[in-house]
Amino acid sequence: MAISACGTAYLAGLIGKYWFERYARLTVEIDVASEFRYREIPLSPQSAALFISQSGETADTLASLRYCKERGLKIGAIVNACESTIAREADAVFPILAGPEIGVASTKAFTCQLAVLAALAIGAARARGTVTEDELQALVRSLAEVPRVMGQVLNSIQPEIEFLSRELSKCRDVLYLGRGTSFPLAMEGALKLKEISYIHAEGYAAGELKHGPIALIDDNMPVIVIAPHDRFFDKTVSNMQEVAARGGRIILITDEKGAAASKLNTMHTLVLPAVDEIIAPMIFSLPIQLLAYHTALFMGTDVDQPRNLAKSVTVE
Ligand code: G6P
Repeated sequence: MAISACGTAYLAGLIGKYWFERYARLTVEIDVASEFRYREIPLSPQSAALFISQSGETADTLASLRYCKERGLKIGAIVNACESTIAREADAVFPILAGPEIGVASTKAFTCQLAVLAALAIGAARARGTVTEDELQALVRSLAEVPRVMGQVLNSIQPEIEFLSRELSKCRDVLYLGRGTSFPLAMEGALKLKEISYIHAEGYAAGELKHGPIALIDDNMPVIVIAPHDRFFDKTVSNMQEVAARGGRIILITDEKGAAASKLNTMHTLVLPAVDEIIAPMIFSLPIQLLAYHTALFMGTDVDQPRNLAKSVTVE
């Protein structure tokens, strides 16, 4: 299967790739839409292609969709605007039902795109027989938990987020790290921060730290580590140790088990409820988005209409 999109929608797709591959054992080719159609990827008409777009009008995503359509692929569209061009040209439309999203930087569309991608990956796993009935039920139960857990998180983290955002607003650069599905989330955290606060931020796979970005670490550089207590946790902690040893200021976003297991000096540890791996990206995206929002408020920037950005990009 192929997935393509731009910006935040692309990062949602990248998380979707992990899910389709893990649960449905479906290989996923993914790229940003502006590269996708020029790569001359060998695409089979037996394949499906999925395009993700909040507005359904993004020029690069639409051009990639048409590229795949011309080659006979079945086209699916994950959209918020169901009357959009991308929705009209797709064979199957999967609405995210987020309601109108006004702010330029995508937030609720991102979490709703993730919910739809998770549901599709679980559906594909069921159709392909790659998970047992018990596993399937557990996955569906976890998905159904999302609204409740999100409410709980939103009600509890606000004071800590404001404290951390005040600190971030004094910084020039911020590094985000994560492994597994927390890696695209790290990139999304960095994207949100730079879009609305104009602070330079980068999201990296935690394992890549030693291959370059570690050179940036000093006591001026906050490092936001997204690490639920999952299969990758111990590896991520060892990457955190590398940061701590170089005086980096760590903000660890984890869950209760992770907080108990990390045993590292952090600038702050933000503890979220422990949840099943499949819903962690949706839950962990809340502090990521709120950090960017409150940092931008402290900086006095326009959170809804950041400079130089447009909500819908209809030119290539
Ligand atoms: C613009 C917006 C981003 C969005 C991207 C893709 O760059 O500023 O927030 O993620 O377009 O938009 P789409 O409507 O296709 O999801």
